[in-house]
Amino acid sequence: MIYFDSAATTLQKPASVARQTAHAMSVMASPGRGGHAAAMRAADAVFQCRQLAAELFAAQPEQVCFTLNATHGLNIAIHSLVQPGDRVVISGFEHNAVTRPLYAIGAQTVVAGTELFRPQTTLEAFDRAVTSDTAAVIVNHVSNVFGYIQPIEEIADLCRERKVPLIVDASQSAGALSVRTDRLGAAFIAMPGHKGLYGPQGTGLLICTRLPKPLMQGGTGSMSAMQQMPSFLPDRVEAGTPNVPGICGLGEGLRYVRRRKPETILAHEQALKNVLVRELAPLAGVRLFTGSEGTQSGVLSFCIDGMDCEEAAAKLAQSAMAVRAGLHCAPLAHACAGTLESGTIRASFSDFNTPEECRLFARRVRALLTEKRSR
Ligand code: ALA
Repeated sequence: MIYFDSAATTLQKPASVARQTAHAMSVMASPGRGGHAAAMRAADAVFQCRQLAAELFAAQPEQVCFTLNATHGLNIAIHSLVQPGDRVVISGFEHNAVTRPLYAIGAQTVVAGTELFRPQTTLEAFDRAVTSDTAAVIVNHVSNVFGYIQPIEEIADLCRERKVPLIVDASQSAGALSVRTDRLGAAFIAMPGHKGLYGPQGTGLLICTRLPKPLMQGGTGSMSAMQQMPSFLPDRVEAGTPNVPGICGLGEGLRYVRRRKPETILAHEQALKNVLVRELAPLAGVRLFTGSEGTQSGVLSFCIDGMDCEEAAAKLAQSAMAVRAGLHCAPLAHACAGTLESGTIRASFSDFNTPEECRLFARRVRALLTEKRSR
């Protein structure tokens, strides 16, 4: 299979991820819930993963909280900062993981920065929109639909100057771009474990530089006589037994990213995207969404004139080529790019893809165009 759906989940992972996940299931019990060997092994492994993440994202280990996925982390972050009626500034490329919680809370959402691949324009829009009475700014570091790399550090500077808390959705950037908690000074940074960090599904991280409001209450293995959740991190938002096998797998994913280096992974994925752009650009009837050097990650959206995106993706799937088509749970991003009606076909790469796969994929797209013309 040619797997170009890593923006949803990376499927090809370092072999050690599955190995360590399975190993944890046979030798590890509940961390922080006992002094016996199986519980202590789990506690050590969970702490090691926390420490690896803290190093990669320039945070303190206790600021790294385990979540189910990025959506879970974003919900904790949003519910910690936003009350009904609050003014919240978001980018035009936010996912439903941001817009749906804001809608449910009844926030007054202001959209800033709606143009693709125009970081300066995005920054100017945030400069105009972020007022001192803004409760929070929420920015998708990289658009899951278009791979647009937003100017997150500059937006973070602006938020810091205006004393407005920032939430970063690093779903598509963690593992490939620099995400430094100390540099961003963001209140919260949410990310999945199962995309660019090569961990199993059901894992995610929320980095907290301020005290979050827990979404769930329950046992933490600490301060058990108290009925309030502990006031300290990470226990405050880690109620219940954690996903120890998943966290052990994620630890191996983090080791892989550390060894390979995010900048090497990004360069590889961007090079693959460029190969596919070069292959598809000459084809009449194919519309590509591309930005200039440095404004796009290893994600490429495109449309084929006169062909439904879902239908094209289904045909590619019949040829064992995996992409995601439609709205990618990000209708706002599609509205900003003018593709809300049609959706797009999205090819998204990982460190495990090759240029040859891009060429084979492009050959199949050419065949789809020929089939369409002969219909
Ligand atoms: N948000 C993920 C995607 O873009 C699942 O496919």
